[in-house]
Amino acid sequence: MTHAPLLQVTGLNKRFGGVLATDRVDLRVAAGEIHALIGPNGAGKTTLVSQIAGQLASDSGTVHFDGSDITRMVTHRRARRGLVRSFQVTRLFKSMSVLEHLALALQAAGGRTFSAWRPVRAATLLFGRAQGLLERLGLASKSGWGVEQLSHGEQRAREVGMALAGSPKLVLLDEPLAGMGLQESEAMGSLIDSLRGEVAVLLIEHDVEAVFRLADTVSVLVSGHVVASGKPDDVRRDPAVADAYLGSSQEAL
Ligand SMILES: Nc1ncnc2c1ncn2[C@@H]1O[C@H](COP(=O)(O)OP(=O)(O)OP(=O)(O)O)[C@@H](O)[C@H]1O
Ligand SMILES: [Mg+2]
Repeated sequence: MTHAPLLQVTGLNKRFGGVLATDRVDLRVAAGEIHALIGPNGAGKTTLVSQIAGQLASDSGTVHFDGSDITRMVTHRRARRGLVRSFQVTRLFKSMSVLEHLALALQAAGGRTFSAWRPVRAATLLFGRAQGLLERLGLASKSGWGVEQLSHGEQRAREVGMALAGSPKLVLLDEPLAGMGLQESEAMGSLIDSLRGEVAVLLIEHDVEAVFRLADTVSVLVSGHVVASGKPDDVRRDPAVADAYLGSSQEAL
């Protein structure tokens, strides 16, 4: 690889009492790629995402992002640099429309930019951008709906939209397809697919079929350690993956 990766995790560790949740994790995510992180329940995937996003302090190891060492940087500063995690955000503003919700996220992300404009002009710009984002999320027809009226899958799409509001370089998605029906999963899959080349995605997902279809790179975490990382077809054939993770279910791949 000639370019430094966008995200480089080196020797990252996190212990909870007797449990080594992440164990000497090395991980590289390239700019614009869809990078899936798979592994059994309790493998340490969510812990690793929390360490990368800055919600959990690491015991040791380093995280470099976009040329800087961010190992000890607080979460909101990471977000300002373009590293964001999509959360299942509690619905704080139930009375707001879907459009207003996204406009608020855009304003929070780019407040300084918008404050340079006269208020009316700023609001027009803001809502125009929010509408554009809604179209991208497949929610354009729901822009006037109350946020609480959206279906489960639409809520997840809206949350990804909130994460995209600050034009990030890397988005961390922890099980965005969880609890979705087929149609909703496909819509979310297309949304993630549309980010390729523009925003890097670190995607935790249990649906291995979806993962192998979507991802440019797959990393496999077992007992806190990365046992394989590479192109989907190579990872699929890696005996270490079959032994450590897939076991008798390897035909599922
Ligand atoms: N805050 C915590 N305190 C104590 N132990 C924790 C904490 N968070 C995670 N663990 C433990 O660390 C290990 C890794 O958990 P983690 O949630 O990161 O796994 P995961 O791969 O995300 O699992 P899943 O697929 O079920 O979401 C588990 O043994 C878990 O019980
Ligand atoms: Mg998890």
